[in-house]
Amino acid sequence: MSSLTDISWEEFSALPLKAKRPYLEGKNGMPYHTLFAQQFDRELLERLCNLANRIRFINKSKEGALYLKNLLTHKRAMLYFSQPSSRTFLSHLNACQLLGLTTSSVRDAATSSEAKGESKTDTVRTFSSYVDMIIMRCPEKGLAEQMAWELSNSDRPIPILNAGSGKDQHPTQALLDIYTLIRSFETKGGLDGRTVVFCGDLLRGRTVRSLSYLLTNFNDVKQIFVAPKELQVPEDVIEILKEKGVSYEISDDLKAATKVADAVYMTRIQDEWDESKGESAKIDTSRFKFGAEELALLKPDGCILHPLPRRDEIATCCDHDPRAMYWRQMRNGMWIRAALIASVFGLEDEIMNCGY
Ligand code: NCD
Repeated sequence: MSSLTDISWEEFSALPLKAKRPYLEGKNGMPYHTLFAQQFDRELLERLCNLANRIRFINKSKEGALYLKNLLTHKRAMLYFSQPSSRTFLSHLNACQLLGLTTSSVRDAATSSEAKGESKTDTVRTFSSYVDMIIMRCPEKGLAEQMAWELSNSDRPIPILNAGSGKDQHPTQALLDIYTLIRSFETKGGLDGRTVVFCGDLLRGRTVRSLSYLLTNFNDVKQIFVAPKELQVPEDVIEILKEKGVSYEISDDLKAATKVADAVYMTRIQDEWDESKGESAKIDTSRFKFGAEELALLKPDGCILHPLPRRDEIATCCDHDPRAMYWRQMRNGMWIRAALIASVFGLEDEIMNCGY
């Protein structure tokens, strides 16, 4: 088995994503460090979804909930979020609590010694002194990866879980999106052969890059990217689709795409990444919103997803439609993150085979 202790940071960081995967693996092929979507193939995704279902079921009874809560009482996790977050923070926190982990958090770098000039590397190493896992969200692409290497090569090698790295990746969001899609199509013939439409800011939305990759693990899933040309999906995402022979389309017509969609994945304009003030506001995004007209075009068993938060890209008139899955996505996020954290700590078999 390869490990991050076998390779220099320079060599590791230069590897293509898929080649990095073996260095990040823990027991049973599950990730030890969870950094990007390319660490998950279909087998792992199905195992994680099964485990999430199992945890969800066990937690229904008080005895089951107590069993889960007892599993990781001897472990502590740190949530280090230097970018705003509601769902990702709370669902990880609650996933930890479900499994009995004690948690601590820093939610604003201004309140940590970074404000005194401490480097990010020193900051993360400091956190690692106290805990057994770090769940981190940061504006810097690649920082979670670098920290994983640093910690694996330190005297306190603990796992890193990437809860959003720059404009780059958001692997656990993609896991909950896949879990939601799998559940949505469970009794309707499954996810294979479906058409997924991505709409909005596809250039800077990290959830899109991660989910687009995860979907390539399924058979004949077509991807349609609907966005204003300034915010269209970046070339690296398309390169992967070409490499894997996945069928895709670039479009600026949400209505036409909705008609053929099984799932529509809406995203917010990520204007926090604007290079000059008001840059995004100059782009005409009016045709990239999902409202009553689009809802009327969506297939009866289609679904609407959104990583949230939304602004006005999904009209509130869609909120009570049974095809609106964005509320369920949030709760699914807690179960799939609990499944991932349990797997990182080697508990998959124990939970799958317990008597509850
Ligand atoms: C996303 C994020 O932060 O990348 N939200 C989330 O994690 N649920 C998307 C967004 O902020 O628009």
